[in-house]
Amino acid sequence: MASSFGAAQVLVASNRGPVSYAVADDGSLRSKRGGGGLVSGLSAIGPDSGALWVCSALSDGDREAVRRGVGEDGVRMLDIPADVHADAYNGVANSVLWFVHHMLYQTPLEPAFDAEFRHQWASYETYNRAFARALAEEAAEGAAVLVQDYHLTLVPGMLRELRPDLRIGHFSHTPWAPPEYFAMLPDDIARQVLRGMLGADRLGFLTHRWADAFTACCERFAGGLGGTRIGVHGLGADADFLRARSHEADVDERMAALREEIGEGRRTVVRVDRTELSKNIVRGLLAYRQLLEDRPEWRERVVHLAFAYPSRQDLAVYRDYTAEVQRLAQEINEQYGTPGWRPVVLHVRDDFARSLAAYRLADVALVNPIRDGMNLVAKEVPVVSDAGCALVLSREAGAHEELGEDAITVNPYDVVQTAEALHEALSMRPEDRTERCKRLAAAATALPPARWFLDQLEALRG
Ligand code: G6P
Repeated sequence: MASSFGAAQVLVASNRGPVSYAVADDGSLRSKRGGGGLVSGLSAIGPDSGALWVCSALSDGDREAVRRGVGEDGVRMLDIPADVHADAYNGVANSVLWFVHHMLYQTPLEPAFDAEFRHQWASYETYNRAFARALAEEAAEGAAVLVQDYHLTLVPGMLRELRPDLRIGHFSHTPWAPPEYFAMLPDDIARQVLRGMLGADRLGFLTHRWADAFTACCERFAGGLGGTRIGVHGLGADADFLRARSHEADVDERMAALREEIGEGRRTVVRVDRTELSKNIVRGLLAYRQLLEDRPEWRERVVHLAFAYPSRQDLAVYRDYTAEVQRLAQEINEQYGTPGWRPVVLHVRDDFARSLAAYRLADVALVNPIRDGMNLVAKEVPVVSDAGCALVLSREAGAHEELGEDAITVNPYDVVQTAEALHEALSMRPEDRTERCKRLAAAATALPPARWFLDQLEALRG
């Protein structure tokens, strides 16, 4: 039996992996390495650690890479059939589990769990099983496996059956729904999700609030937590990386271009989001419009830099939402703009260097999600901003648990209150702003990604 075990001592599993491939015009494969907390966290355990990252092929380029046997050391991509993946990722993970945990349904009409959903659920099981099998194959005896997020809720339970010797952890990067909302899921599916997760030795969440909601769901629908332990690890911003990266030449170039768009001597309200329905970009624009209406003294003196980068464009509601963001920005510009002043500068093409440039220029950061697991932008802007920014922060963002004291807190649904908060933030005395921003940056960087990852590994082994 021992001979059938793999060699990896530490394994990470996630839908999106650290690398992606595209087929170039000449037929060759180009690889692109992704950034983000997990990637840097994993590199912290060192290249000789025998770690393996199991992820899904997402694009045609990824699938081609699997077929050609091209790959990076330490990464195994699973070639899950495209239709199965689409059902699991778009149908279940993004259209159901994401909506439940972020409480996004317009409930008079949705959700309706019909036969089509059951079909997609079967794909979700197949997709989770593919991960469980690959992990079971690759893991050394007694290895630690860290499964990520709502895409892979069934993996811990499935893997436990295949390999009882492993130490299995799961981490949720999203909020967890309260029991009354979670109860919308069909009973058998709700139980399957919870039991799947409870197959783990230890479950990690970003805040106490989400951990408590999970525990409450288990008490109500799964007879409690059993022997599974729960931990809270509030992922922080990577200060060293951000400070160095935001002073490279391409960021300086973007700053010069943005200054042109902003105009001389104006304040900036900055937001940077992937255009997810939970980010509340539309109400953010409504609040900015309300500010210009209620406080005319800010007209011509402030610019809202709103970067809304495309996300999950396979889903029609996401495309419609992006269109609404663009429509509203244009409406505000038509309503209030003057020949020398564009009130909203909206960019929708993803550009990391430009995001950092906006962070550096920010007088106010606006982070107003309906609900958010953590929200790293709220943590990143105070670290990077040159002059120290004020932070307007939704109380429904996980980051509020750590940053609430020095932020200006808003109810994300209250547009009038958010407008007033923007005014307060723009009016803050410079010395207050600097002081608060320093404290925000300290709180934001308390648990850098590498430490976040290693803490979980230690807790799992301990
Ligand atoms: C957000 C969430 C993560 C999730 C990710 C997936 O960043 O906070 O929990 O894993 O979205 O994004 P994707 O682009 O892969 O759908």
